[in-house]
Amino acid sequence: MALLAALVAPLAELLSAATRVTVLTGAGVSAASGVPTFRGAGGLWKQHRPESLTTAEAFARDPALAWEWYAWRRSTIAACRPNRAHEVISGWSRHYADFTLITQNVDGLHEAAGTRRVVRMHGSLWELQCSDRCAAAPARWEDRRADFVELPPRCPHCDGLVRPGVVWFGESLDTEVMKQCEAALDCDLFLTIGTSSVVYPAASLAPEAKRRGAYTVEINPEAPPASATLDLAIQAPAEVALDALDRSARAS
Ligand code: APR
Repeated sequence: MALLAALVAPLAELLSAATRVTVLTGAGVSAASGVPTFRGAGGLWKQHRPESLTTAEAFARDPALAWEWYAWRRSTIAACRPNRAHEVISGWSRHYADFTLITQNVDGLHEAAGTRRVVRMHGSLWELQCSDRCAAAPARWEDRRADFVELPPRCPHCDGLVRPGVVWFGESLDTEVMKQCEAALDCDLFLTIGTSSVVYPAASLAPEAKRRGAYTVEINPEAPPASATLDLAIQAPAEVALDALDRSARAS
């Protein structure tokens, strides 16, 4: 604990001096809330192959199977609450006038913690879209049901299948979302928290922010290969490191 306090103290000073702060989060930030990560210890992809569930081809082949996975994730995550890491990030989003949170997470926990200026790279588990993109349906709409009477659910407008409002492997990211990510790379401090940094383009953001002059920090209890290229790696769980950082910043 003393070691962690010593590690975060200089970072707390940088946070106090910074005016432009960007945070990128991945599944690890929600681990303490009970949301399973994809990779790493206990990761979901140890039990399921991504391409068998989360691609457009997999959905076309077996929409009921894909929906069983998403219905399970919805009911698991519906019972989860934001943890200390979400709370600290939410506090920063109110403190800094120039703050962006870029998240790969689709669980909605940053929003539940009241975080402002959230850019969702991979969409939201709590949104749906018509898989036929029928003209009558909005591009996406919110639907927070955890239990569906009928799986796969149907589009209320054309009775076609609906799909989750998330970005699947092999799909392009929304261009407006990419513009917001790009703009947030010009910052004083860029923190990448709880991501294995293997999925692109998210994995390219911290190195690019560093190239543009940001001080870059990674927080992860494991040490993903990307850590070595950044300015500081804090090898600790997000909820512990961010709590220590927040306390240190308040004390200084
Ligand atoms: N605090 C911080 N990091 C943690 C914690 C914790 N308490 N617990 C685990 N981690 C770290 C793991 O060490 C791992 O490096 O979180 C990381 C989670 O990595 P992934 O499961 O690969 O999640 P992520 O990087 O968000 O995945 C990217 O892959 O499957 C797709 O679309 C999905 O958005 C996801 C993308």
